[in-house]
Amino acid sequence: MMSEKKNLPKMTIGELARMKAEGRKISMITAYDYPTARIADRVGLDILLVGDSVGMTVLGYENTLPVTMEEMLVFTKAVARGAKRPFILGDMPYMSYQVSNEEAVRNAGRLIGEAGADGVKLEGGFTMLERIKAIVAAGIPVMGHLGLTPQSLSMMGGFKVQGNTAAVAKRLYDEALALEDAGVFAILLELIPAPVAEAISRAVRVPTISIGSGVDCDGQCLIFHDLIGLFEAFVPRHVKQYGNVMQVVEGALSTYVDEVRSLAFPKAENTFRIKDSELEEFKRAISS
Ligand code: KIV
Repeated sequence: MMSEKKNLPKMTIGELARMKAEGRKISMITAYDYPTARIADRVGLDILLVGDSVGMTVLGYENTLPVTMEEMLVFTKAVARGAKRPFILGDMPYMSYQVSNEEAVRNAGRLIGEAGADGVKLEGGFTMLERIKAIVAAGIPVMGHLGLTPQSLSMMGGFKVQGNTAAVAKRLYDEALALEDAGVFAILLELIPAPVAEAISRAVRVPTISIGSGVDCDGQCLIFHDLIGLFEAFVPRHVKQYGNVMQVVEGALSTYVDEVRSLAFPKAENTFRIKDSELEEFKRAISS
């Protein structure tokens, strides 16, 4: 059944904190375009992340590393135009924040000021604390991101679970506490074993959002294309497909191709007319 959640107030970091305090779960997806943002707004999504995963899901790159600030600005603008109620997060792409605090603040500011995001997300733990403090000091809400952080893919040896040894789990736990001290308003936990994510979620006051890190986080996130079944190449274990949009699109396109070839499309109702008198005059004009 279609759920329409109208007239909900704009989502804020204060409301997200209240949701954690009251045990109300936070729903988050990635979104990259205007029509998706409108639908997400209608059904009451709490957070839309314009993720740099757009590089893989929409632009066809092999990983997220080639995604640029200019690309992120285009996609973030489209989502901000489409969704009014959800909290809109612009993802900071590779090398838009790693080099210096100044660049980090400038680029975070572009996602807010030019593109209309409400906050930004960036990857990393201890090494990113100064960047986070600088961006927060500029008045911009920051979501942290721990566990599998795809911008450090080579260091991690591929897309795989992080924190499945006691030592790494403890480091992630300490990093979450440090991110909280640095001022993040929430932390995304990606592909972390559920008991470790649960311990982190209990330890920090800010909301934790799971992507593949279990039910005990304060909210859940899925990549839009995974959730609706629009990416057939690989379905990760943590994904639940709530639809099979790939099949719907493929069916529609293949029927269209057949109907164009067989002249079944367009029909009279898809076609514009001209008055007979105008048509006669037109014919006379082109025959003279
Ligand atoms: O870029 C992205 O979409 C992400 C996901 C892990 C949520 O960071």
